[in-house]
Amino acid sequence: MQKLPFKSIAEKTDLKGTYVLLRSSINVPIVDGQVRNQFRITRGLVTLQYLVNHGARVIMCGHIGRDGTQSTKQIADLLQEYVPVTFSDEVAGTKSKNLRDALKDGEVLLLENVRKDPREKKNDANFARELADMADLYVNDAFADSHRAHASLVAVPEFLPSYAGMNFVHEYEELMKARVPQSPALFMLGGAKFETKMPLVEQFLGIYDNIFIGGALANDFFKAKGYETGDSLVSAIDLSDSPLLDHAGILLPIDVTVMRGKERLVCAPDAVGYHDIILDIGPRTVAMLTPLIANAKMVLWNGPFGNYEAGFEEQTVATAQLLAAASGYSVVGGGDTVAAIESLFIQEHYNFLSTAGGAMLTFLEKGTLPALEALTASEE
Ligand code: 3PG
Repeated sequence: MQKLPFKSIAEKTDLKGTYVLLRSSINVPIVDGQVRNQFRITRGLVTLQYLVNHGARVIMCGHIGRDGTQSTKQIADLLQEYVPVTFSDEVAGTKSKNLRDALKDGEVLLLENVRKDPREKKNDANFARELADMADLYVNDAFADSHRAHASLVAVPEFLPSYAGMNFVHEYEELMKARVPQSPALFMLGGAKFETKMPLVEQFLGIYDNIFIGGALANDFFKAKGYETGDSLVSAIDLSDSPLLDHAGILLPIDVTVMRGKERLVCAPDAVGYHDIILDIGPRTVAMLTPLIANAKMVLWNGPFGNYEAGFEEQTVATAQLLAAASGYSVVGGGDTVAAIESLFIQEHYNFLSTAGGAMLTFLEKGTLPALEALTASEE
C-alpha cells in the first residue's frame, strides 16, 4: 500500500478532550422533509464514532443543498440515533461558540449548513479562521465535497493541524485503484453534461479497454452522428469533428427506450422520432454489455443510464445486477447509481461504492482534489 499524501485521523488516538472540527459529507437528498438516502451519513459514522469513542469534542459541519437555503437540523435529528449531538442554528458565531464551550468529552455539536454563510463558497479566509478558532484540529471526511474550493474544505487546513477521516482515506485508496485498472477493464459512464466528463473520457481511453457511454451523454454522440434526437436532453457540445465519435474504444447504446407521446417503446438510436424523448438505454444494449462486465478485471461505473428521477431505472438496475454477479473488481459512484444498487439490497456484492459523484469524476481525472491538496499542504 502506497503512503498516503496526507495524515489520517486513524493514526491519532490521543483525542480525549480535544476540540475537533469535522467537515463531513452530509449533503443528502431530502424529499418531503425526510432524508431519502442515508448512504453518506452511514459512511461518515466510522470517523464520527471514532472521534466520539476517543473522547474528542466534535464540532461537525457540512453543507446540504446547493444554495444554502436548507438546514442541517434534520441531520442532527438523524445522528442522534448514533451519537450524543446538539445542533446550533448558526454556523460560526457566539451561539455556536457557547454550545462548543458546553461540549463534554465524546459529544458532538452540529453547526448549521456552512453554505448559509456566503463566505463559504468564496473560500474566505476570515470565515475559515472563525471555524478553525473553535477547534484544536481539523478532520476532512467529506471526500464527496472535496472538489469544491470552499472555506470549510480548503481554507481551514491553513489554520489547524489537519487530517483525513476514515471515509476520505477509503475513497482515496479505492479510487486510486480505479485509476490503474488491470486489463480487460470497462468504464461505464452515464448521467448528463458530457462537456464536464469529456476530459476524463479522453484520458481513460488510454487506460480502459472499453468505455461505454450511456444516459443523456450518449444523445450528444447520436446528435453528432446526424441522428434525430427529438426532444431528448442534449448538451451544447458539438462532437461532430471529435475523434471520440468513431473511436474503437467507445461503445454507445445499440437501442434506446423512448417516450413517443404517451407510448413507451424501445428502438434503434437512428430510429428516434422527431418528438421522441430518449429516457433510458434498451435491453439489447445491456445484453451487449453482459460479456464485457462478466470478463472485466475492473469495472468502473458512474452515472445512471436512464432518467432515474422520472422512473426510467430499468436498465440501470439490470446493469447493477449483472455487475453484482461479476467476479472482477467493481467500483461504482454517483448518487443515483448507488441508489439503484441500494434499492436492490446488493451493496455487499461490489468492491467499492463511492459516496462521491462529481468529486469521484474529478479525482479520477486529476488524481487529486482541491481539498485533498489542502490536507497535503497542511502536513508540510
Ligand atoms: C455532491 O453531492 O456532489 C457534493 O456534495 C457537492 O455538492 P455541490 O455539487 O452542491 O457542491
